[in-house]
Amino acid sequence: MRAYNIKHAGAWRLGISLLFALASRIIYAADEKLESCQLHPKIEEQIIKDVSVWGSKGITEDLVLTVSKYCENAERITQHYCNCHPQRILIENGTVYLNNLIPNHRLGPHEHIGLLVELYEASQVYKLPDVEFTYWLDDHPPAETVLGPDGRTSWPYEPIGGLPPMVAWSKSEDNGVLMVPYSGAFRCASDSFDALEDQLHVLQSIPWESRKSMAFGRWNGFCTYYYGGLVRSADGLAVPCPRLYLNNISEAHPDLLEAYDLGRAKHVPLAHQNAYKYIVSTDGWSISSKFDKYLLLGSMVLKAASIRTGYYYNALEPYIHFVPFMEKHKDDIVEAIQWARANDEEAQKIARRGVEFAKEHLARPARLCYLFRLLTHLSKQYRYPVSCQRRKLCVPLVEELKYMSRFEKTAGTCNYKELLEKYATDELSAAPDDSAFEELYSQHEDPLHWPRDDVFVEELTRGRQQQ
Ligand SMILES: *[C@@H]1O[C@H](CO)[C@@H](O)[C@H](O)[C@H]1NC(C)=O
Ligand SMILES: *[C@@H]1O[C@H](CO)[C@@H](O)[C@H](O)[C@H]1NC(C)=O
Repeated sequence: MRAYNIKHAGAWRLGISLLFALASRIIYAADEKLESCQLHPKIEEQIIKDVSVWGSKGITEDLVLTVSKYCENAERITQHYCNCHPQRILIENGTVYLNNLIPNHRLGPHEHIGLLVELYEASQVYKLPDVEFTYWLDDHPPAETVLGPDGRTSWPYEPIGGLPPMVAWSKSEDNGVLMVPYSGAFRCASDSFDALEDQLHVLQSIPWESRKSMAFGRWNGFCTYYYGGLVRSADGLAVPCPRLYLNNISEAHPDLLEAYDLGRAKHVPLAHQNAYKYIVSTDGWSISSKFDKYLLLGSMVLKAASIRTGYYYNALEPYIHFVPFMEKHKDDIVEAIQWARANDEEAQKIARRGVEFAKEHLARPARLCYLFRLLTHLSKQYRYPVSCQRRKLCVPLVEELKYMSRFEKTAGTCNYKELLEKYATDELSAAPDDSAFEELYSQHEDPLHWPRDDVFVEELTRGRQQQ
């Protein structure tokens, strides 16, 4: 243990002592964890396609270590938000660890925390394989990875080519990341997917016939970069920013749609939008985190054309689960609504199939299965032993979640208690003197916190050669 950097030795000890505490439980619990599950074949297909980016060379350790090189000195660490974008995660013997800590001042958003919470639950339900990857906390565009049509890849921090394994909640065809659920919106927010699913009977209490035969949409009025020419309709023209242009269409067709940005019309809670037969979905900075929820409302979802996809989009079928627009031309939503009105039974079927799809493939058990299958496919790519012994810092995820449940900026972000209680982690409870909290707090607070695993592995190798 001497070899570990003093700065991180404390956290490493935290890891070790917890491991001892865990050991008996892991052995006991391992038998109970699931080792298989069934995904929608199209979703599984997407995973296999995305994982194939490493080809027969697989994932070598040097690719993973490039994430550490991303910030190689104190100046870069402070200027380049080193700990703000990459959340490095390692799973060994079924336990999830973090290899770096996001600074306190950037903690809070459920985009980050939701996945950690969901991953922890997945590790309690499934026997997860040994893997390591980075969750890139920036959606513009995912992790700056490029995947060329010829299969060539690049990432700004790896000049020789090749991608470290990274996950993000959305991507385009030309990004080399693996997709994960936008778990924060699925499970953390008060109007999360899971919360809406819990009140499905209430959402369904408005019969189809009583819903207004109009399209409804509400959002913040901003445009993402890809509506500047990257999304094109069949007529060859650039699709305008849906969130602004729909204001215009709504004004021109007040009898058909009320799709306005919040600068133009009042907020309407999601759970009340089912008063309309048709719900309009548009991208924000990236895919809409509301699209999944719209599918639950029992209304037919109209979805604007986009170049971005989410982890399950491959399984969605147009005119089966939703109706696309801005595909033929920028105003085709008008025709889509007229079609829906004239084909009411068909529109209702699309709405119903949307709900069925969401219940079957997007609900929490399906998302946990997804993470398990994704990591299982990913685990076959590693060409070196994935281990905490080769990483400078390994904080058990459960400790970070306990920290978040107490830290004021994150305490309200997600329901940690439900999870920590459900999986009975009380035998791991923080030391009564709060030392675990204090220790994590100071590392989250340290402006130069950035475990350099590239340097660390070099030192390990040198140490071994000297022996
Ligand atoms: C995982 O299990 C192996 C074999 O039992 C052990 O050597 C290793 O230390 C374990 N790793 C962790 C992080 O507990
Ligand atoms: C939408 O309407 C606004 C205000 O009337 C106008 O300035 C803008 O050009 C319109 N947008 C398009 C794409 O037609």
